[in-house]
Amino acid sequence: MKILVVGSGGREHALVWKIAQSPLVQQVYCAPGNAGIASVARCVPIQSNDIDGLTSFVTHEKIDLTVIGPELPLVMGLVDRLKAAGQAVFGPSRLAAYLEGSKVFMKDLCDRYDIPTAGYRVFHDAEAAKAYTRTQEVPIVIKASGLASGKGVMVCQTLPAAIDAIDEIMTRRVFGAAGDSVVIEEFLTGEEASFLALVDGTQVLPLASCQDHKAVGEGDTGPNTGGMGAYSPAPVLTDDLCRMVMDQVMLPTVQALAAEGRPYRGVLYAGLMIDGPRVKVLEFNTRFGDPETQPLLVRMKSDIVPLLMAAAVGSLAGMTIDWDPRAALCVVMASGGYPTSYDTGLPIGGLEQASALEDVQLFHAGTARKRDQIVTHGGRVMGVTALAHTIGAAKQRAYQAVRMIHWSRAYYRRDIGYRAIAREME
Ligand code: AMP
Ligand code: GLY
Repeated sequence: MKILVVGSGGREHALVWKIAQSPLVQQVYCAPGNAGIASVARCVPIQSNDIDGLTSFVTHEKIDLTVIGPELPLVMGLVDRLKAAGQAVFGPSRLAAYLEGSKVFMKDLCDRYDIPTAGYRVFHDAEAAKAYTRTQEVPIVIKASGLASGKGVMVCQTLPAAIDAIDEIMTRRVFGAAGDSVVIEEFLTGEEASFLALVDGTQVLPLASCQDHKAVGEGDTGPNTGGMGAYSPAPVLTDDLCRMVMDQVMLPTVQALAAEGRPYRGVLYAGLMIDGPRVKVLEFNTRFGDPETQPLLVRMKSDIVPLLMAAAVGSLAGMTIDWDPRAALCVVMASGGYPTSYDTGLPIGGLEQASALEDVQLFHAGTARKRDQIVTHGGRVMGVTALAHTIGAAKQRAYQAVRMIHWSRAYYRRDIGYRAIAREME
């Protein structure tokens, strides 16, 4: 088979790495890819939002399956275009990807189908949003409805901060049209976890449990990023809670989408807030998480290709996934200044020594090749992922590799996995 992966981050490097191990696969392509992906896949210079370019590449190269990493091409309708051209594709249609593309749609769907989520109100007008916010308690959560690369959610500790968040989204329009509407949400307490499942329209096959760290600073402080690290399994998600999430969240959501004429195929990712025995959905993503995919795929023992194909064509029934019982932990190394502003083009050293460590995988995110050097090329640069018998041991191994990798102003959190490790010690 010939498989194309769309995207250029650490998640796509992990997907390409895993897909390339399948005996069913002759060639993996990645559009546009990065310097690390280029060592496993043939990178083609087509951007992930170039729907025409991707459709024509898939058709001309006779690609057997296209796997889409990021949300933007999904929301732009890449799946619909490829299907119309008769191509097999892993990912939800434009209508189904609206679950991630519109927080207003997501909240209203949860409301209509009794899927547990935070209480909320929707506003299309800044003054009305502010008037309502003045009547609420803080902390309060202000969300731009549309896609904002994970940055459109503001947890506000004070009323002035909440008013400023509304202005930033709706008046200064820092996220453009994504800020046409805002969702104002009740602040939830608890511990977050990510629940991902493969979905073929009706069947839901859960992946192993995982958790990420979204905040840039240690102790989960500071602004949110795409994710600074992740691990699997997530001890907070007990078997009982997983069953509850399947019954109360995953299956009802897939059924709701089908009932609304938006059947879901691909990977469905629920961002959850867990508070004792209670689970609420913070968000849905209609794609693999980044960096959750890195530890998940390092633990996946089954061939991923038949699974992706089955989700794409509607034949997941009866399939299972075999997982390495060990834990995997991924530390994201970022450019100093991320998620705000940062330099690129800085030479990266130590990659060979780090990747020679046993049970360590380096997944490149924002990297590029400049002559014979690998250089930084984005905010999140490298996902250093290690496998070991406990999360604590995986953390030690990952940081051993992290310390070997260097560039000017590299930044990483030193506490990835702290909650899970505290639970392991209990
Ligand atoms: P979202 O993209 O909606 O998941 O939001 C990004 C992050 O903001 C989440 O991972 C949480 O850390 C935080 N967050 C979102 N909604 C809430 C909420 N209702 N209560 C507390 N924290 C929230
Ligand atoms: N790690 C969070 C996300 O992929 O959205």
